[in-house]
Amino acid sequence: MPASMVDKYRQALDLIKESKYLKIITHYDGDGTSSAIILTSMAKRMGKKFHLTYVKDLSQNGIRPLLSDDLVIFADAGSDQLRFFPDAENIIVLDHHFYQKSNYKALNINARDFGYDGTRGACGSTMAYIMALIANEENADLFPFFMSGLIADKQDLGGISGLNQVIIDAYGFKYKKERTINLEAQSMLDSITYSTDPFFEGLTGYPDKVKTFLADIEISPDATLNEINEEQKKKLANALSTLLLKQRVGLEALAYIENDIYYFDELGYNSKQLSSIVDGNGKMGQNSVPVAYFLGYQSFKDEMEKNWKMFKTKLIDYVYRAKSELFPGKNVSYFYAPESEMAGAISGILMLYLADQTRPVIGFSVGKEDTKVSSRGTRKQVNRGLNLSIVMREASQAVGGTGGGHDIAAGAVIPKGREMQFLEIADKIVGTQLGQKNET
Ligand code: C5P
Ligand code: C5P
Ligand code: C5P
Ligand code: ZN
Repeated sequence: MPASMVDKYRQALDLIKESKYLKIITHYDGDGTSSAIILTSMAKRMGKKFHLTYVKDLSQNGIRPLLSDDLVIFADAGSDQLRFFPDAENIIVLDHHFYQKSNYKALNINARDFGYDGTRGACGSTMAYIMALIANEENADLFPFFMSGLIADKQDLGGISGLNQVIIDAYGFKYKKERTINLEAQSMLDSITYSTDPFFEGLTGYPDKVKTFLADIEISPDATLNEINEEQKKKLANALSTLLLKQRVGLEALAYIENDIYYFDELGYNSKQLSSIVDGNGKMGQNSVPVAYFLGYQSFKDEMEKNWKMFKTKLIDYVYRAKSELFPGKNVSYFYAPESEMAGAISGILMLYLADQTRPVIGFSVGKEDTKVSSRGTRKQVNRGLNLSIVMREASQAVGGTGGGHDIAAGAVIPKGREMQFLEIADKIVGTQLGQKNET
């Protein structure tokens, strides 16, 4: 880690130590909620009073009411918002998103400024975990939440790299790790029925079909992944890969059938489960439930798992609906999502497992005043020149909205009623980007 980065973290720690009260603000998704668990645990252990808020609306109007005279710590968002508040002091930002450079007084710690790839090699939880480590090396035991954020942001897809790799080399060895089938629940029946990443068309969401599928390969629906033998595992991996091949997924999604799973026995979840449960609760608007549970309030366990099941059931239903009404533009596929919080997750699943692999997916969620837009591409498209962060920013600005994110995954908020105009502009920019051959 560069000395200049450590230095900035030390400045941040001084600010934290000096302040009586911390106002922690994180993005609402899985990475943001994992960052929230890390930062609130750190604050609690330091004996600091804190307040936690989740943010969905990243526009100037969404952020302004959250600022305060107390020390504010943003995680998994904030860098790109500083340009709206150049004079605001007493702010620490721990972020990994691309941002437009401007003058500001806040202490902005963004992985991108130190040569790291903020899309694949460092997430909000990476930045929050380093903050906790700088505060006290004993916070190393918050490693599971660094992993859950990383997985929620899909920074394990295509292999771990960058700052994430540095952290894993330093702290991951304490945990049992196994390269195995990338499934998340306990029983084989639940694992496949609720599997959305990978998403198995025709099996995901259909327990009776999963039972038949498992019977055909002679695996008990009640067995856990650890209880089936190597030969059964191989059979299962082959059968699931065959399904993905039929769905015509790309190589990256096909490879995601296997993953390095970490076992966090003291938490009762492995890395894939932990990420899913934190992400699912966040997207159900129940971020405080996993935060409270992992801060030590055991009584929240049932509610947390119930929220997770409700999230998965809803997500699977929305994915099938979106798949059946996925419209072709010239250079993109697009659909309408019923809930803005779910739009990103649906677009991600469609892109990796169910949609035309040659074009990005754009989802619209029409709200009362604004429309939320989510977009996802593949690494292959990015290598051909796709940059959805630019697409979302430029197309949204052209219709009076705001947008940004990563080359492979980006979002926007636009005024309601401007969806088709936005789509036309976005489609054109995608066409230009994909036309420019830019092989890497
Ligand atoms: O706001 P944040 O950066 O945390 O979110 C990143 C988003 O990009 C997540 O929703 C993640 O799932 C998505 N992503 C993706 N494919 C990738 C990398 C990230 O869909 N290869
Ligand atoms: O209400 P019920 O106990 O059926 O729901 C919890 C179930 O969901 C448990 O089997 C639990 O292990 C499973 N689960 C999981 N992965 C998660 C969350 C819950 O396997 N991420
Ligand atoms: O909302 P969604 O999951 O589609 O967002 C994809 C990525 O774009 C996330 O990293 C998110 O933080 C970012 N984003 C953004 N500005 C917006 C909307 C989303 O930077 N207005
Ligand atoms: Zn993130």
